[in-house]
Amino acid sequence: MKLVYYILFFVIFGSRYFFVICQNVPSPRCQQTSTLVSTRLYFFGGNTGIIVSNEVWYLDLSSSFNISTPPWHSDVVMPVGYNFGTSCLSPIDNSTVFLIGGRTWIVNTHNFSYTSSVYKFDSKVSQWTTPTINNFNSSFETRQEMQSVIDNNGKIFVFGRANYNSSTTFCYNDMNILDITIMTWSTPTQSQSVLTYLDYTATLLPNGLIVYIGGRSGSSTSTSPNNMSQIQVFDTKSYTWSIKPASGSTIASRECHSAVLTQDENIIIYGGSLYDSSGSIAYALSDIAVLNTNSWAWSVPSVSGTGAPPLTQHSAVLYKNYMILAFGATSATNLYTNNIYILDILNYTWVTTFNIPTTTSNDNSSTDQAINDSSNLYVGIGIGAGIIILAIVLFIIGFFFLQNSA
Ligand SMILES: *[C@@H]1O[C@H](CO)[C@@H](O)[C@H](O)[C@H]1NC(C)=O
Ligand SMILES: *[C@@H]1O[C@H](CO)[C@@H](O)[C@H](O)[C@H]1NC(C)=O
Ligand SMILES: *[C@@H]1O[C@H](CO)[C@@H](O)[C@H](O)[C@H]1NC(C)=O
Repeated sequence: MKLVYYILFFVIFGSRYFFVICQNVPSPRCQQTSTLVSTRLYFFGGNTGIIVSNEVWYLDLSSSFNISTPPWHSDVVMPVGYNFGTSCLSPIDNSTVFLIGGRTWIVNTHNFSYTSSVYKFDSKVSQWTTPTINNFNSSFETRQEMQSVIDNNGKIFVFGRANYNSSTTFCYNDMNILDITIMTWSTPTQSQSVLTYLDYTATLLPNGLIVYIGGRSGSSTSTSPNNMSQIQVFDTKSYTWSIKPASGSTIASRECHSAVLTQDENIIIYGGSLYDSSGSIAYALSDIAVLNTNSWAWSVPSVSGTGAPPLTQHSAVLYKNYMILAFGATSATNLYTNNIYILDILNYTWVTTFNIPTTTSNDNSSTDQAINDSSNLYVGIGIGAGIIILAIVLFIIGFFFLQNSA
């Protein structure tokens, strides 16, 4: 009988309804990687300053919310602690996320695990696996501080960066390609001279060009920040490199900033930082700049609303007309945040409310969706509260039962 009681107890308290009420909030962190899967904005790992996390969190973007109470949900944890990596969503099933490179840590320790350079997350069933990759380039192992992009055919492109498994970090300038449809790796030889790059952002344009912005380049002994007006670009159709000289506003060099691509092919960047000679953050930036990829000109929009603080080693995605920034270090003193900040890119206004964007047509479905979602939430809370009360009652009954039977 005691056993039945304990089983009941764990089934009820372990049930998902319990977490509807006891919804957690992720601790402040930076160096996470982020991927949008439909209306879920996922965050993988990150450095909390105490531990490198193996947590997976997502923001539910299916309903409106105030940024002071973001709709956080935790998902199944990763097999490793994870930071300074990169992630891509499969365009084949729109639900599988690939984690590429990055620093991997033995869970809840301060020891690197130097394990697989690719992990696969099936967001439909919340499951992590380590895929088998044909022809893997072992020199890619333990690379970190880079960004990948994925094209519509399922080819992941990940450029350059350095290893973290030796005291001398070797910087790379090679392009590595993982074709997820056949799980095959390739590192094409490059006939052109290309700078080594790290801590940049990578943005894939619809015409197949990958635009590499900011970051640092150099050798293992000395690296310097990249010039923001000399932009390295890779053509995923011809596998060739070119430099695009960018005109317009002068934008300060930076690393570990964020970048998103708008519908009209502007790249909006936010924040980032510069490092001192010891490799620590010297200062963090809080500016927005826009690169027009048709004219290759930088501009600085005038922005209204209460802006985000300086942020570096954060992440950003574009969802409809919202650029959503999350987590990051806010200063040179490594103060980390768990806040999110939202920029409405239609008029460059910082907003405190995430509104389900309504379409301009006479289609009422998105409004209906919002109403359904909020009523579902109330139903959820109702069921959750009911089950918790039931659990407490059962607990008390069980307690007296055990007392009497003892
Ligand atoms: C969002 O929440 C904050 C803090 O509770 C509040 O001050 C602010 O007015 C809210 N914003 C909106 C648009 O409701
Ligand atoms: C910006 O646009 C949003 C709609 O996208 C609107 O609600 C808001 O009032 C605008 N803000 C300013 C400052 O114009
Ligand atoms: C949308 O809602 C309005 C008022 O609620 C209604 O008059 C209109 O017919 C609806 N449009 C469609 C396309 O359902």
